[in-house]
Amino acid sequence: MRNINGRLTSLIFFLTLFSSLSKISTASDTITRTQSIINNQTLISTDQTFQLGFFSPGNSTNRYLGIWYNNISIPTVVWVANRENPIMDSSGILKIGDQGNLVILNGSDHVIWSSNRTNANSPVAQILDSGNLVIREEGDTNSQNFLWQSFDYPCDTMLPGMKLGWNFSTGLDIYLTSWKSADDPSIGDYSFKFEPHSPPQAYLWYRSLERVRIGPWNGIQFSGVAEMKSDSLFKYQFLFNQDELSYSFEVLNNSLISRLTVTQSGEIQRLAWIEGSGGSSGYWNVFWRSPSDRCDNYSQCGPYGICNIQSAPICNCMQGFEPKSAQDWYLRVMSGGCVRKKSLDCQKGDGFLRLQGIKLPDTSLSFVDMSMSLRDCGQLCLKNCSCMAYSNADVRGGGRGCIIWATDLIDLREFAGSGQDLYVRVSASELGGRHKKRRVAIIVSVTLVSAIILSGWIIGCCIWQEKKKKKRQNSNPKKGCNAKIQEIPLFDKVGGTFRARDKSEESRKEELELPLYDLGTVASATDNFSNENKLGEGGFGPVYKGKLADGQEIAVKRLSRYSVQGPDEFMNEASVIAKLQHRNLVKLLGCCIHGEELMLIYEYMQNRSLDSILFDQTKKSLLDWQKRFNIIIGIARGLLYLHQDSRLRIIHRDLKASNILLDCKMNPKISDFGTARIFGGDQTEENTKRVVGTYGYMSPEYAMNGLFSEKSDVFSFGVLVIEIVSGKKIRAYFHTEDDRNLLGHAWKLWTEGKDLELMDPSMGDSCSISEVLRCVHVGLLCVQEHAEERPTMSSVVLMLGSENPTLPQPKQPGFCTMRSLAETNGSSSAKKSSTINEVTITTLEAR
Ligand SMILES: *[C@@H]1O[C@H](CO)[C@@H](O)[C@H](O)[C@H]1NC(C)=O
Ligand SMILES: *[C@@H]1O[C@H](CO)[C@@H](O)[C@H](O)[C@H]1NC(C)=O
Ligand SMILES: *[C@@H]1O[C@H](CO)[C@@H](O)[C@H](O)[C@H]1NC(C)=O
Repeated sequence: MRNINGRLTSLIFFLTLFSSLSKISTASDTITRTQSIINNQTLISTDQTFQLGFFSPGNSTNRYLGIWYNNISIPTVVWVANRENPIMDSSGILKIGDQGNLVILNGSDHVIWSSNRTNANSPVAQILDSGNLVIREEGDTNSQNFLWQSFDYPCDTMLPGMKLGWNFSTGLDIYLTSWKSADDPSIGDYSFKFEPHSPPQAYLWYRSLERVRIGPWNGIQFSGVAEMKSDSLFKYQFLFNQDELSYSFEVLNNSLISRLTVTQSGEIQRLAWIEGSGGSSGYWNVFWRSPSDRCDNYSQCGPYGICNIQSAPICNCMQGFEPKSAQDWYLRVMSGGCVRKKSLDCQKGDGFLRLQGIKLPDTSLSFVDMSMSLRDCGQLCLKNCSCMAYSNADVRGGGRGCIIWATDLIDLREFAGSGQDLYVRVSASELGGRHKKRRVAIIVSVTLVSAIILSGWIIGCCIWQEKKKKKRQNSNPKKGCNAKIQEIPLFDKVGGTFRARDKSEESRKEELELPLYDLGTVASATDNFSNENKLGEGGFGPVYKGKLADGQEIAVKRLSRYSVQGPDEFMNEASVIAKLQHRNLVKLLGCCIHGEELMLIYEYMQNRSLDSILFDQTKKSLLDWQKRFNIIIGIARGLLYLHQDSRLRIIHRDLKASNILLDCKMNPKISDFGTARIFGGDQTEENTKRVVGTYGYMSPEYAMNGLFSEKSDVFSFGVLVIEIVSGKKIRAYFHTEDDRNLLGHAWKLWTEGKDLELMDPSMGDSCSISEVLRCVHVGLLCVQEHAEERPTMSSVVLMLGSENPTLPQPKQPGFCTMRSLAETNGSSSAKKSSTINEVTITTLEAR
């Protein structure tokens, strides 16, 4: 896995051949006026960390002067001198010029790059252990006296000790710019730059458009970068005074190699080098990235909208505000933002609403006073009718300083457990003066609704308790009924959706926003759950097609009382999906809770599930290669989102062809989260005695030992890929000659170099051979016996998306033969699996 990860990183960023590098080394870190560096000579810093010399990036043959890590197995360039002006051959020379500057000359002695003049008497250039290339007077090693340094002219990479930002006395603005491509280090479309307004912020720019806003700095972290708060690996420094605006970081543990970079694809990434062990090579691990979700998109929810990645839809208006255009909002076009329900009346007196856990709005036009207390800040804001909001500028020591916004509030997001308080001006009537009548109405509806829900709930829980009693005591820590009840406290009707709310901050995090449908609506939509409308039988019970009065088609999952899965899994699914939004995940529209009836309402998928087409002799030709490849990529992205990008780490645990739904354009959507598990922050593996999943798709370690992790989903994904390429079912495939199953068959073809024979003949000529081969290769990597050798989903997505990735050789898959599968079944007490082929099985292992 490390291997792949590593290779990929190199592919994406560098693809660097470095054919001529690192062979000849002058073993020196300095050149003087009389020395020079030619094509294949390098300088190496004292502690061997960095190397300087000429190189060719990626597939290019152009030569550039650059700095890269000396001891890292993946060529990683951190700085390029002549990024806009390559040398076309190997004639380049680096030396110290007449004006005490560094110059690069080409074969015809033309200066193709030079640093600023320094007028030094006896200048030397030195590559330092920090990766900084400096010019200094010979004998003067005081860093204050450096005459020029490459740290002032970074490319796409920020190293520890480097400062980004502004030097106000010289006007120098230091910022990062992406490479154009892996082959071309010239300035690309993305830049990461601090803006010297007050308080300062940084933006990731796409050309001249704000892509992501980072900041403002609140004394501890950038508002909106929750990860910085609990970081024990790095020390961040932010300075803003008359002389400078600067941001820098240090690595607390010297043995950690880390860098911050702006990628060509438009991400800011903090990476750390993970050394390989046991023969595998190391790789760059992404510690933090931005944008990491849709709420990071600049102004995703427009003015006065608040983005919360865990709510569905992700945009909400602040209290006291409503969508500017209800129509747009309904259609999920939310960038228009929100407007006040009641206009302000500055003379009669307005008030402030406190919003908690907020990434502060854009401060590019705001005002800051570091000496003011929050109280004075509020007074000042109240007096000035154009003041829209205020907040502490520094959260340390209980908060101090004052930021005032006199413009629309833009680009806010809400965080669970992080973020800070923002006080927003609203009319006095928003604060206290609700009309009595409305209040009564709300109380009545709240009481009614909660009574209904609680009763449904208690009944549900009783069923669950009953089931639980029958089962053997489960060692797995589970939330009990009480916890469940608390998750859905009082309900408050907000614009047609019910929104669970509770005053305590803890449960605000758990806020579950799900429209509730009443039983009547669902029953009439599905023609009273008629057999004609039945789509099939899932793990929960029957699934029905329906049509709402407004014409929207829905799929209704009805929890049957006799189903294997119980109310706890049902609610697990509801709460998991309610927090997720991705185009490759099926969308939950709402739920219906009525007495014992528990139902989930989904968007309807015209093309049903993947297995109903892929394994159908007549329909399978609908899936040409382009569609299949699109499906593979879509599933990979959906799964990556679950594993990594959704803020929750979710293991699906039951990925299979029948859980992949297809919309009218054959876009895949992962469904059935009944068995999904949300993982805690640093948990990587869980052991369960309760194995749920579907044989054939289950990884060896999960099926046999109940160990599941992201890598067990990767295994299931690999099986799916092989199924999609071959058009054959994992469970239905028996090779006539021996006991190989589909994976064994694929493996045999691979080892014989006949992998193309795996291809489903019904795809005809639609194939891209290289894509098919890549998919088979990646599929086999995913189903390797040992979990640690399987790639992560982020690697998988990269591998599938790269044109010519260098992939490691896969090892023999787990569960290659029918025998090994049967052995597994034998080791568990459950025999259900032998009769239920495609249905999710739940077993309790007897040990
Ligand atoms: C700004 O640049 C000047 C000239 O290079 C330098 O002397 C000064 O130390 C710099 N200021 C800061 C805060 O880095
Ligand atoms: C620094 O990191 C290395 C390797 O990652 C580790 O072995 C060592 O214990 C760490 N040192 C400290 C002080 O944390
Ligand atoms: C209100 O605040 C804005 C922004 O800080 C400022 O430009 C304006 O002069 C203030 N108006 C009054 C009357 O103080």
